[in-house]
Amino acid sequence: MKILAFAATNSRNSINRALLDHALSRFQKEVDVNADIEILDLNDFEMPIYSVDREQDTGIPTAAKTFFEKIGSADAVLVSFAEHNGFVTAAWKNIFDWMSRIDMKLWQNKPLITMAATPGPRAGANVLQTQAMLTPHFGGEIRGSVGIGQWGDAFDPETGSLTRDEDIRKLGDALAAFALEPA
Ligand SMILES: Cc1cc2nc3c(=O)[nH]c(=O)nc-3n(C[C@H](O)[C@H](O)[C@H](O)COP(=O)(O)O)c2cc1C
Repeated sequence: MKILAFAATNSRNSINRALLDHALSRFQKEVDVNADIEILDLNDFEMPIYSVDREQDTGIPTAAKTFFEKIGSADAVLVSFAEHNGFVTAAWKNIFDWMSRIDMKLWQNKPLITMAATPGPRAGANVLQTQAMLTPHFGGEIRGSVGIGQWGDAFDPETGSLTRDEDIRKLGDALAAFALEPA
């Protein structure tokens, strides 16, 4: 199975990237040892802020087309969303907006697992809820979702692993959803 994975943030010391790396390592151990995983860094997809005028003047940036094609060539997508003011980061929204001009169904019928890590206790509830509501509209199917709150306590950077039994179980349940045949 070919998995496209990314943390939806442009932060260099991203806790969502740490969660993503941990989830991928568990996925390879527990679900699919032969998984072919590609990890994208949003910093490699910097583009001007979307505007209809820019689109008319210079068209859709190559970086947006590349990201879109990478979704298209994957069997499944694993995303960990940083929550900024209750929503996705500006960095991800910009890539998303540009890709939506290629095709509004930008998830291209792929199954997704959505995750979020936050320092506070709400575990990205807002960003995960909005993604649950919006993703089908954009051609994606969320198969599993997990939010990890109070990251400082929930994750041990020495071992690169989650510390709480409940979080460990929730992540395992979400990842197992990719054991099913892709849509
Ligand atoms: C502009 C801004 C807004 C934020 N808004 C929220 C928020 O709404 N909810 C939340 O739980 N954390 C919020 N945070 C804290 C982020 O969850 C925290 O910075 C986290 O490390 C972001 O994930 P990342 O490290 O993967 O980029 C905010 C942080 C910033 C800089």
